[in-house]
Amino acid sequence: MSNLLITNIGQLVTNDSAREGLLGIVEGAAVGVREGMISWVGASDAVPEEFRSLPAIDAREIAVVPGFVDAHTHAVFAGDRSHEHAMRLSGASYADIQAAGDGIYSTVRDTRAASLIELILGSRTRVARMLESGTTTVEIKTGYGLDTANELKMLDAIDAVDSSLPIDIVRTFLGAHVVGPEFNANRTGYVDLVVGEMLDAVSGRVDFVDVFCDAVAFTIDETERITAAASAAGIAVRLHADQLSRTGGGALAAKIGAVAADHLDHASDEDLSYIAAAGTVAVLLPGVSLMMREPAPDGRRFIDAGVTVAIATDCNPGTSYVETMPFIIALAATTSGMTPAEALWSATAGGAAALGLSDRGIIAPGKLADLVMLDAPSYEHLAYRPDGDLVRRVIKRGVPV
Ligand code: NIG
Ligand code: FE
Repeated sequence: MSNLLITNIGQLVTNDSAREGLLGIVEGAAVGVREGMISWVGASDAVPEEFRSLPAIDAREIAVVPGFVDAHTHAVFAGDRSHEHAMRLSGASYADIQAAGDGIYSTVRDTRAASLIELILGSRTRVARMLESGTTTVEIKTGYGLDTANELKMLDAIDAVDSSLPIDIVRTFLGAHVVGPEFNANRTGYVDLVVGEMLDAVSGRVDFVDVFCDAVAFTIDETERITAAASAAGIAVRLHADQLSRTGGGALAAKIGAVAADHLDHASDEDLSYIAAAGTVAVLLPGVSLMMREPAPDGRRFIDAGVTVAIATDCNPGTSYVETMPFIIALAATTSGMTPAEALWSATAGGAAALGLSDRGIIAPGKLADLVMLDAPSYEHLAYRPDGDLVRRVIKRGVPV
């Protein structure tokens, strides 16, 4: 039933800039859906005749918000790195673990060893939990294959998960996650492989190219080379930037017109001014800071600098095994200096902006009917109850999941 009428919505968060306030809230609302798209939004006691015969859901005064857009994840992987987290809690550093051949390399070994079906089944379980917790669009990166065949296997797994669940997946090629293990003594050879054979192989199958631009991964020069090749191939760019230290990745993202720059924990005020001017979206990842025991990203600083902010889970086996956006909203509001309204906007409209998508994250006529019905009377409960399972019902393209 992709035709639907939802009535008696106590509080509807639309994110519609034509309405008042950041969230464009409508009290006592109803939403009409046709063919999976929002067709009408208005007062519950003024539903137009043409929508009254549609299959209806009575929301019984609860809050309804746009489906969450999780704009940064590494949700396809195999293996288990719980022990690394335990080691970090006892004082080991992320960089030391990677330098000893584990960290991302541990997941690369396990992902290479997994069959396609094993990779699909493990990843599908995670993505299904994301959907259950209200994520209706998720970005997923490759980057645990690090050779052409295994990067393609990751894309095959993403395709299979996409076609088996009612969730939209945005695909990002992250062959430049770290230097492939076979190329430790030949970094340039690995970058050659990424911009040559790998990029050719993934072209037409991905929406973005990403590079982990950091001291433990790729230099600014290497990142520029990879992003230039992506642009030449007509693929949009996003970057992991200034996460562990300031390497200038944020400024580079602005310079090359990247759609998004992610992490940015160590970006300077000058970097933020470039990012704001370029219209590059900052994707802040408070789950990483929590699990790495680093200071939370300062969302307030970004917003005050005029930067468009998204928040995301960064679901990955190393630094943030977090699947649920409501938890990230609570974390951002409580630790990143963002108001509950800003956190929710950044998890919906902000996430869509970070993926270059203008057809979602907003509840208004012409947008996708991706909605989350909360088990709460107001969106503020998302910030208030971090462990609450507040998602009563998820609606994807007009169909209750
Ligand atoms: O976003 N920064 C690089 N990539 C991931 C971590 C990946 C991993 O440790 O497996 C991140 O934090
Ligand atoms: Fe990441």
